[in-house]
Amino acid sequence: MAAPVSVRGVSRRFGDSVALRPTDLEVAAGEFVALIGPSGCGKTTLLRIVADLESPSGGEVRIGADSASAARRNRQIGLVSQRPAVLPWKRAEDDVRFTQKIARRIGFPAGLLLRDFGLAGHEGKRPAELSGGMLQRVNIASAIAHDPAVLLMDEPFSALDEMKREELGAWFDAELARRPKTVLFVTHNIEEAVMLADRLVVFSPAPGGIVEIVAVDAPRPRPPSFRADPRFIAAAARARELLFGRALAA
Ligand SMILES: Nc1ncnc2c1ncn2[C@@H]1O[C@H](COP(=O)(O)OP(=O)(O)OP(=O)(O)O)[C@@H](O)[C@H]1O
Ligand SMILES: [Mg+2]
Repeated sequence: MAAPVSVRGVSRRFGDSVALRPTDLEVAAGEFVALIGPSGCGKTTLLRIVADLESPSGGEVRIGADSASAARRNRQIGLVSQRPAVLPWKRAEDDVRFTQKIARRIGFPAGLLLRDFGLAGHEGKRPAELSGGMLQRVNIASAIAHDPAVLLMDEPFSALDEMKREELGAWFDAELARRPKTVLFVTHNIEEAVMLADRLVVFSPAPGGIVEIVAVDAPRPRPPSFRADPRFIAAAARARELLFGRALAA
């Protein structure tokens, strides 16, 4: 299940400082949108507003026909946060079940979900007993365990080394084909964004706002060879140009 997300004129101030300038963004059901931009440009703020963890200073968010707060109450949102709360005693399976308990909904049976996530045999392990990649897969499993319509991910792979990051990205791309979601995905990594997303939403430095949206016109999931595809190269070059200026584009 997936729902469209509509961000209409959403802005946010903290005291006198502008964290997010008025922003419009329409995300289709099942679409994967990457949010990319310099540190402090309001990416986490926007994600938290969509999740109804923060209220906007202006504008509104709709998730399908619902307001953000109705969507949160109906547990239509899954969130993988930038700094996930790791509870040292919580076993992988308990983590997934906890989401389902709070949501009062078993979207995907915990055992099946963890098996599909390559975690068979690790269901009873605590965070300290899992690798970084495994732990992130548990976090993602917990975020989607109740089958929300929208998945919000804030730099989910940034703590991983480059090889692991690519591997997890490819796995996640394939996983989404199995359980389609509308995804808003924050990253600082241009290649990761182009591999995974239908569109890259490029933000300006603070006070942040959308500069341009770069489409990656290729079906998902994408094979590793997509990195050599002219569409990949063109989208990555355009994003780099927008983020770092023309001098570095070539
Ligand atoms: N609760 C808060 N109180 C005051 N200022 C805040 C708060 N949350 C965010 N800000 C400010 O809003 C701006 C945007 O922050 P935000 O966390 O959204 O940036 P970001 O794009 O996610 O950055 P990064 O890439 O480093 O994670 C920053 O200047 C930040 O200091
Ligand atoms: Mg952030």
